[in-house]
Amino acid sequence: MKNRVVLITGATGGIGKAVAIALAKQNFTVIIHGRDKEKTLKVRDEIITITGNTDIDILVADIFLLSNVHGMVYDFKQKYKRLDVLINNAGGIMGKSREITTEGLEKTMAVNLFAPYLLTGLLLDLLKESDDGRVINVSSSSHRLNAKPDFTDMQLDKNYNPLIAYGNAKLFLIWVTMHLQAKLDRQGIDNVMVNVMHPGAVKTNFGVDSNLGSMLNFISKLARPFFRTAEKGAETLVYLATTNGLPAKGSYYVDRKVAVVSAKYHSPLNEKIVWDYCNAITGLNL
Ligand SMILES: NC(=O)c1ccc[n+]([C@@H]2O[C@H](COP(=O)([O-])OP(=O)(O)OC[C@H]3O[C@@H](n4cnc5c(N)ncnc54)[C@H](OP(=O)(O)O)[C@@H]3O)[C@@H](O)[C@H]2O)c1
Repeated sequence: MKNRVVLITGATGGIGKAVAIALAKQNFTVIIHGRDKEKTLKVRDEIITITGNTDIDILVADIFLLSNVHGMVYDFKQKYKRLDVLINNAGGIMGKSREITTEGLEKTMAVNLFAPYLLTGLLLDLLKESDDGRVINVSSSSHRLNAKPDFTDMQLDKNYNPLIAYGNAKLFLIWVTMHLQAKLDRQGIDNVMVNVMHPGAVKTNFGVDSNLGSMLNFISKLARPFFRTAEKGAETLVYLATTNGLPAKGSYYVDRKVAVVSAKYHSPLNEKIVWDYCNAITGLNL
């Protein structure tokens, strides 16, 4: 039997690296994505040494830019004709001042929502080549705590706040996960499923370099020692990537169980607005 192929974004550290190691130990062919070539190569070598699995490959792209997402998909398709598991893990919270990419997109939305949306859309054809294709999106409980969407100001042009931007992006990522699964179901595609998860509060590089303002910086420093390890944070990803007969698809998982998504801002109309917006921004027509 052929090894299952997994692509993990943001696998140069934290949760992404931990899930890469865990899946390499289970004989997956693991493609780790990073934005810095040297760092990504170093992590690849480390994973090979730790696991003894030599089927570890790299993809390099700074996915703040959608043009780079296209580039990494091009590179992937040169080598691979099938993808079994896509883990959209790369992401993070930005600083207290609103920043835009050279493509004009707000950075939190670019990396946490538009990039995974585009990557998934561009790789769907290869996921359909799998007997058991899976997409796993990494969201956050911040969707419940911090989201406050304004559908007339999706990228917080007027009222930027880093926590709201992050909460909104992670909320919208949950909605597009549910929407994509419903689309696949309607199209009768039963060999690809999409899920989304929250890893818990994990002691990684998350937020360490983001200047959120003195108060939030102080609180996050105080809380960090109590966070879980990256390996623990990766457990639900490993579960979603490897378990046969998952209890639900198109669902939000926390600690290997289906969890309830905040219903506060959800409606079928709002979900469709976000879906259409992602299509418009990425130029896809999913
Ligand atoms: N840690 C938590 O408590 C927590 C809680 C809920 C959700 N999450 C989510 O979990 C995911 C993983 O975060 P983590 O905690 O493992 O944080 P992390 O240690 O900061 O890792 C983030 C990964 O994403 C990569 N990345 C970030 N921006 C990128 C870009 N523009 N292009 C390419 N790669 C990029 C980073 O690359 P570099 O190594 O180059 O920086 C790194 O590999 C994120 O989606 C985060 O929102 C984390």
